[in-house]
Amino acid sequence: MGYRIAVVGATGNVGREILTTLAEHEFPADEVVAVASERSAGAKVSFGDKAVLKVRRLDDFDFNGFDIALFSPGAKVSAVHAPRAAAAGCVVIDNTSHFRMDADVPLVVPEVNPQAIAGYGRRNIIANPNCSTIQMVVALKPLHDLARIKRVVVATYQSVSGSGKDAMDELFNQTRAIYVNDPIERRKFTKQIAFNVIPHIDMFLEDGSTKEEWKMAVETRKILDPDIVVSATCVRVPVFIGHAEAVNVEFHKPISVDEARAALRRAPGVSVVDRRVDEGYVTPAECAGEDAVYVSRIRKDPTVKHGLSLWVVADNLRKGAALNAVQIAEHLVEHHLGGARRPALGVAG
Ligand SMILES: NC(=O)c1ccc[n+]([C@@H]2O[C@H](COP(=O)([O-])OP(=O)(O)OC[C@H]3O[C@@H](n4cnc5c(N)ncnc54)[C@H](OP(=O)(O)O)[C@@H]3O)[C@@H](O)[C@H]2O)c1
Repeated sequence: MGYRIAVVGATGNVGREILTTLAEHEFPADEVVAVASERSAGAKVSFGDKAVLKVRRLDDFDFNGFDIALFSPGAKVSAVHAPRAAAAGCVVIDNTSHFRMDADVPLVVPEVNPQAIAGYGRRNIIANPNCSTIQMVVALKPLHDLARIKRVVVATYQSVSGSGKDAMDELFNQTRAIYVNDPIERRKFTKQIAFNVIPHIDMFLEDGSTKEEWKMAVETRKILDPDIVVSATCVRVPVFIGHAEAVNVEFHKPISVDEARAALRRAPGVSVVDRRVDEGYVTPAECAGEDAVYVSRIRKDPTVKHGLSLWVVADNLRKGAALNAVQIAEHLVEHHLGGARRPALGVAG
């Protein structure tokens, strides 16, 4: 028997990308089911090029007999239903922020801390990190191995797809409204997002930072090294897909630009595009639909003893969410659930 997989939040930005990635990777599944809210029960979603899945309702979905559930229905929904799935014996890989900082839940980026997956059995839940954290730690890991990172200062340029499908519609509708002189409607974002940037993602915390900025700091420590300090400024920009980050890194030990570039070139999941000419760097528009974390603009920061600055870009729906979750599932299958039980059939139920 092959694996039985549930994708929860299957009609959303992340869920649809998870279905695409499972199909592209020919995940060794006997059955893949799509689950979402009552609103879309009965609707159809694509699985790969040929199959179409009928969406089932989460509220009364029975996880018994399912091996892995990939969750992205929002934090409040995961809080209720992920433990229910886990109690039914299904390993949950959760994309929401709800379980990430729980001590007994592994928080995993397979290129960085795959060994943490071994702790999945404590709760039967593995957390997928925040999209901005994932791409940053993939780029930081080879540099940390070389010269031990002391401090990171990062400014993000995050696309609207990171806020869900309604946020993408809001950028589209506001842009159109501006061109035809209609009034601008705001629903998801606190200010106009079309032709603007908003330095506010998730709620404000007491110290004046936002929860998104806090997530980048604490998640980086949990995944990479508890001694690294991170100062983040997270900004929403009017881009549909692809997050960019200006990352400044201070190290304990000397590191040259050439050493950093060579280490990044060898690193899994990283693609270095760094020519100091027009077009010699990657932007979000070019990374949409791609798996790699792109690193460009690698240069010395001469204002500190051992410092580098980088430009890091990735597709937030793929490496920032779906691809990372599917990679965790693949590792789980290979190292903990007994391997691919038979060749992938790509069969959907
Ligand atoms: N987008 C990213 O880059 C990214 C990256 C990492 C993590 N995440 C996290 O992943 C989660 C989903 O993000 P998204 O961008 O995919 O959002 P989205 O496009 O708004 O999709 C939300 C999904 O959750 C489902 N859902 C909502 N309420 C539900 C309920 N009560 N019961 C069952 N299903 C419910 C929706 O189903 P209906 O269609 O039926 O409403 C839809 O499938 C969020 O927690 C987000 O923070 C997102």
